[in-house]
Amino acid sequence: MNIEDAYYAGKQIICENKKLTSYDASFVIDKDNPNIQKYNEVIPRVYTTPFLSTEFCKELLEESIRLSTKGDTFEVNPTEGGSVQVPEFNFKKVPGIYNLIIRAVKENLVPMFNHLWGRPNYYEATIQIANYSPREISEISYHFDSAGDVSVVVPLNTGEYEGGGTEFLNRGIVEPLPNGTALFFDSFTNKHRGLAVTKGQRYLLVMWIKGYNYNFDLTRE
Ligand SMILES: [Fe+2]
Repeated sequence: MNIEDAYYAGKQIICENKKLTSYDASFVIDKDNPNIQKYNEVIPRVYTTPFLSTEFCKELLEESIRLSTKGDTFEVNPTEGGSVQVPEFNFKKVPGIYNLIIRAVKENLVPMFNHLWGRPNYYEATIQIANYSPREISEISYHFDSAGDVSVVVPLNTGEYEGGGTEFLNRGIVEPLPNGTALFFDSFTNKHRGLAVTKGQRYLLVMWIKGYNYNFDLTRE
């Protein structure tokens, strides 16, 4: 067990929202959306796809805020640099929800990662909710995500705040997407920043996914 896992193992909490934990992966995904399992390249090397249902997003956010007010507050990760820290709620604390989201990732996003990058094998993921707000941290400066191979960002409360969005260095801005729509990109080549929230609270589900690639061809020059 690595240090981060051990830290969260000591803080594990049970999700008491039976509605949330009784979802299965088929409810998590918006199956009615005809574009499920399809992705769009919205700017070069940056993709979007329908992912979580709006109902699940709402329940997930409400439960996270409820749990965070019970003493497990959104907290800044001290291992991240100061200019990229935002208050976050890590789902390693809540295994019931963590495992549900992992199933949805494996069944619906990993096949796309395989198609794009040849990374078929899921290894592990960091899953958290990040909270941007004017009174705390409203924006983060340009950076590469370093905790995984693929970064996934899913808006949970679009329409309830002003500002926000993600800017990719010299390539453009992705305005806040509809709730449940995943924005994803490879972590190593996409320098990006979160734009300022000017009013209200912006909540994003942020995931960093690690994958194994067993298809290395070591004989290739
Ligand atoms: Fe990031």
